[in-house]
Amino acid sequence: MEFHYEVSGNDFARAGLASSEIKKTLQRLGLPHEVIKRVAVAMYEAEINMVVHAGGGVADVRIDKELITIIMCDKGPGIEDLSKAMEDGYSTASEQVRELGFGAGMGMSNMKKNADEMYIDTAKGKGTCVTLKIRIPEHS
Ligand SMILES: Nc1ncnc2c1ncn2[C@@H]1O[C@H](COP(=O)(O)OP(=O)(O)OP(=O)(O)O)[C@@H](O)[C@H]1O
Ligand SMILES: [Mg+2]
Repeated sequence: MEFHYEVSGNDFARAGLASSEIKKTLQRLGLPHEVIKRVAVAMYEAEINMVVHAGGGVADVRIDKELITIIMCDKGPGIEDLSKAMEDGYSTASEQVRELGFGAGMGMSNMKKNADEMYIDTAKGKGTCVTLKIRIPEHS
């Protein structure tokens, strides 16, 4: 099964829509609660980052029998120092974004914690692609 979403930039009213749609789909499929939670959290963080830091982008989600693959790509500013961006508490979020409750600098580590695999492909001035993989353990 494959799903594709366009994520608008700076649209805070709709931010998180793609991840909540995927969450509903996984619930309908009857996947384990733990898997749903991890996908929802990791994808939500990547989606919000595209909205607040990159002017939006596209999300592609593939659900296989044993694996969920989420690829989120934007054409934003890219991440200059990836190891710094991965640190807890590091954020370049604007004052406006912080007022909305984002910008604690916890999103990237939250993604890493919840995904089995995470790859970030980023280039300054070109954009960022985040790939998240979450395995589905055998279930009833
Ligand atoms: N898609 C992206 N495009 C450009 N920069 C990004 C992107 N995703 C993350 N970053 C950079 O990495 C930093 C850390 O991201 P992270 O998600 O950990 O924190 P945050 O978004 O600033 O705050 P929080 O996620 O806690 O609300 C961001 O502040 C930003 O500088
Ligand atoms: Mg974030």
